[in-house]
Amino acid sequence: MCGIIGYAGEQDAVAIIVEGLKKLEYRGYDSAGIAVSGEGGFDVVKQKGRLAELEARLECTPLAGKIGIGHTRWATHGEPSDANSHPHVGSKNRIAVVHNGIIENYKKLKERLEQKGIRFSSQTDSEVIAQLCEYYYSGDIIETVIKVTNRLEGSYALGVMCVDEPDALIAVKKDNPLVVGVSANGSFIASDVPAILKHTNKVYYLDDKEIAVIKKDGVEFLSIDREPLQKKLETVTWSPGSAEKAGYPHFMLKEIFEQPKILRETVNSALSGENKSVIDSLDVTRYNKLVITACGSANNAGTVAKYVFESLCRLPVETELASEFRYKNAIIDTKTLVILVSQSGETADTIAALREARSKGADTLAIVNVVGSTIAKEARFCIFTAAGPEIAVATTKAFSAQLVLLYILAVNFAAQLGRLDNSTQMTLLHEIERLPDKVAEILAETDSIQKYASNCVGYKSIFFIGRNIDYAIALEGSLKLKEISYIHSEAYAGGELKHGTISLIEEDTLVVVLSNCERLYGKIMSNAEQVISRGAKVLLIGNSPAAESGEKLTRIPLPACYELFSPSLSVAALQLFAYYVAANKGLDIDKPRNLAKSVTVE
Ligand code: AGP
Repeated sequence: MCGIIGYAGEQDAVAIIVEGLKKLEYRGYDSAGIAVSGEGGFDVVKQKGRLAELEARLECTPLAGKIGIGHTRWATHGEPSDANSHPHVGSKNRIAVVHNGIIENYKKLKERLEQKGIRFSSQTDSEVIAQLCEYYYSGDIIETVIKVTNRLEGSYALGVMCVDEPDALIAVKKDNPLVVGVSANGSFIASDVPAILKHTNKVYYLDDKEIAVIKKDGVEFLSIDREPLQKKLETVTWSPGSAEKAGYPHFMLKEIFEQPKILRETVNSALSGENKSVIDSLDVTRYNKLVITACGSANNAGTVAKYVFESLCRLPVETELASEFRYKNAIIDTKTLVILVSQSGETADTIAALREARSKGADTLAIVNVVGSTIAKEARFCIFTAAGPEIAVATTKAFSAQLVLLYILAVNFAAQLGRLDNSTQMTLLHEIERLPDKVAEILAETDSIQKYASNCVGYKSIFFIGRNIDYAIALEGSLKLKEISYIHSEAYAGGELKHGTISLIEEDTLVVVLSNCERLYGKIMSNAEQVISRGAKVLLIGNSPAAESGEKLTRIPLPACYELFSPSLSVAALQLFAYYVAANKGLDIDKPRNLAKSVTVE
């Protein structure tokens, strides 16, 4: 899940590409590189490490050119190194390639080329593409790209340059995202829109096996059979500023504080805006089962939603990890609605789960944040979170927006099923409309969380417990902390502790207890007592009045809230806790080690 970018125009390609790579670095930060068409061929600078190191190198060896390609890497094949960095150049220095994706048959292709005497300089799967292009090139780079892509198995988004055709760059993709941007000052390719948003909001979304020929004066689209293609030019509504930090120290903190605004916009879009017509067109009476499938935090949103749907709709809901769902031969059919949740809309396992569901005749409803993404395009129904570009690898605002859309779906489905009368439906929808203000209340008072978190940097392990829907959101609290603070963490259903895990509780172990289910206050508080009696410290997050802060227990009160919607409040406090623990550890919060924002490979 690398980031690729390209530019052809009259402006300084190096500046545009490096700037774009900065916006793409959340996709991978193991190495970075750039190639520009210069006098007599390519000039390539690439190296292991963060983009900042490449920038420093470019200061020493400046490049110049008006056409170029760039890459930021998340290593899959071959460790982070200079040699494994992109762009990869063919053995005759005629073709340069940047690649996002995985070539599954690269070993076979590499062996064949090596038998023909071609020498490889890296361990990557991607270099095979450059060497294949070099091998097949006979004066027509488009023909070459077609020949090569017909031999590749796996996923790819490619930017290709050829010294003999210095005024063009070729782009093609399969299963990985690629947008083509156009402006008065040139044309662009990029893995996602924020990378070129400063220059244009006019984009084409490339579909699988479509070829784009990018030149200074415009773009041309061809099918894989070299048929000219007409594509629809889309206008992106995100503002260039939305992909900036706006004075916050990290994108994650900015995105946490954006939540009241984006929750209002997302709720409005579902109650009266674009999403409403899609939600109203869904007829839940056609289904006898709901399946929610996704990855990571999006899957945690599904787990929260399971409690809401089952409680309000009295319909069986299965939550499935997409990476398992795609291979488990799930029991679904035409009477199943499969809900796919994804911020990026490009997560490989979730795309495969979508295709699996469709192949079994199930209806598919996607909840996605990125317009034009693969999941948005392939799902039968699609509704969008209004979170805007989410840059920090650890999702916050998109997750919270997914929750409110899932709540509104559940309330509407319950009404359709006659489980809710009209006034109850209105009451619940009103409760949802009040969530943004309650989140704002929590964000207005971060001192106690910040102070508490600053004393948690030394923990090697932190536990999260909750009951029912508190347990579901505890899963997200635990994941958030792990992702950015590198502290081991587990979330458990409160009642499970006594069945094993409590053996891990010792003096000063920290247990974060979520308590927002009034009917279970007593139960979860006795779980808190049980761990305290084993020496643990408890951070109690919730609206349960029971407990007073003391030596072993610290309480972070949350505004009162309808139980089923309380995860939207808990998660704001959990996000802040994770953020401030990581900030106090001085970690790179927006780009945690080994992670990437959009997992486009299996
Ligand atoms: C969450 O903070 C992580 N970035 C990760 O778990 C993420 O939720 C997962 O990769 C799914 O991504 P998606 O929502 O873009 O499909």
